[in-house]
Amino acid sequence: MKFDRSVKIAPSILSADFANFGAEIEAVEAQGADWIHVDVMDGHFVPNITFGPATCAAIRPHIKTVMDVHLMIAPVDPYIQAFADAGADVITAHVEAGPHIHRTLQAIRATGAKAGLALNPGTPAEAAAPLLDLVDLICVMTVNPGFGGQKFIHSCVQKVTELREMIGDREVHIEIDGGVDPSTAPLVVAAGADVLVAGSAVFKGGSVQNPAPYGENIRAIRKSI
Ligand code: DX5
Ligand code: ZN
Repeated sequence: MKFDRSVKIAPSILSADFANFGAEIEAVEAQGADWIHVDVMDGHFVPNITFGPATCAAIRPHIKTVMDVHLMIAPVDPYIQAFADAGADVITAHVEAGPHIHRTLQAIRATGAKAGLALNPGTPAEAAAPLLDLVDLICVMTVNPGFGGQKFIHSCVQKVTELREMIGDREVHIEIDGGVDPSTAPLVVAAGADVLVAGSAVFKGGSVQNPAPYGENIRAIRKSI
């Protein structure tokens, strides 16, 4: 994975057909997705359950771009190797998921995957300050994690500005997750974000049988920024 700060659109398969992930991923990549965002939820750290490492391993051969795995689970550490073995390129853990995020980020990097750090809307940018040299990506949650299709929380935009300043010349992506659409994407890109996760705004109106809307939706986000 070569680092660059160009804007990347990362559709979240949380909004795809769960019975058809392989074909959904191939369709959305053919329609212009840059990364594939994979939301893992445990029903404990967040009030929803999705899937685990076995599903990640099963979908991996269908991903030609970047497999971006967002772990909304606690604890994280016992499962890192399993997600790395499943082929994740980026593994993101939440700063709120436990007392030892520093160790968690080291453990992610030790697998060879890129390490991501996610911050909930209630967590300030300063929480990332001691960790900037241990991360390859900071995921700014712009909704409370657990569900797709929620409303973008505007007060999180200022956090993006603060993180961009803190990151300086480091090769660290800023990812935005939650409520990204053509009305909110320009705000976060102007503040310094380069990876835009979008679930409902990409998958709406389309399907594996009718994938053209995926492309229209991706282009609408790109055009807005
Ligand atoms: C929320 C997930 C997001 C979600 C985004 O907990 O982490 O990735 O799928 O969905 P939208 O784009 O619909 O807000
Ligand atoms: Zn996510």
